[in-house]
Amino acid sequence: MNRWRGPFGWGLFVVGISTLLIFSQLESKAQQEPNFDRLSAEDRQALQKRFAKELWPLLTRHERDGCVGCHAGAKTVSALRMTGDIDKDFPMLIKQGFFIPDDAGSLLARMLDKDPKRIMPPPAKDPKFKRPHWTEKELALLRAFVVDLDKKQKK
Ligand code: HEC
Repeated sequence: MNRWRGPFGWGLFVVGISTLLIFSQLESKAQQEPNFDRLSAEDRQALQKRFAKELWPLLTRHERDGCVGCHAGAKTVSALRMTGDIDKDFPMLIKQGFFIPDDAGSLLARMLDKDPKRIMPPPAKDPKFKRPHWTEKELALLRAFVVDLDKKQKK
């Protein structure tokens, strides 16, 4: 007699297959990148033009002590992976949700964070050197951009 043909064996078989199916689904979910870009092509293009003029110069200044300079460096371990090429970085920032208003992981929120472990740019190791922070005026530019981009997102 083959035990696996009994009702208990089939039960185990079904449980095993279901577990496999659930795990393979979980895995494919984890592999899917989030996409927060719900802009029309025209809006995305117009916003990139504005971003290039108003914000890209601020993000790319100060070399390694600036946002792009550090975040594009091979040594920086962060979920924000920039390249320094605006045609790649701008779509990535939208797609991965770095402009989402009031999101704790957004560019703006990380620059406003009160926690010294989270504030961007991070404090330098040498306490005598202070990495330059954005001025109120510069932060206001980013804030206005975030609000306008959000308005263009298709709900
Ligand atoms: C000297 C290097 C350095 C500089 C300069 C820097 N960052 Fe970061 N940043 C990091 C590191 C390392 C992390 C990952 C650790 C963490 O989350 O605090 C990080 C994390 C972040 C995150 C969160 C990414 C995520 O989702 O996990 C954002 C957003 C961010 N930085 C934005 C900025 C902005 C905007 C600037 C410019 C004002 C900036 N950073 C300047 C090193 C830097």
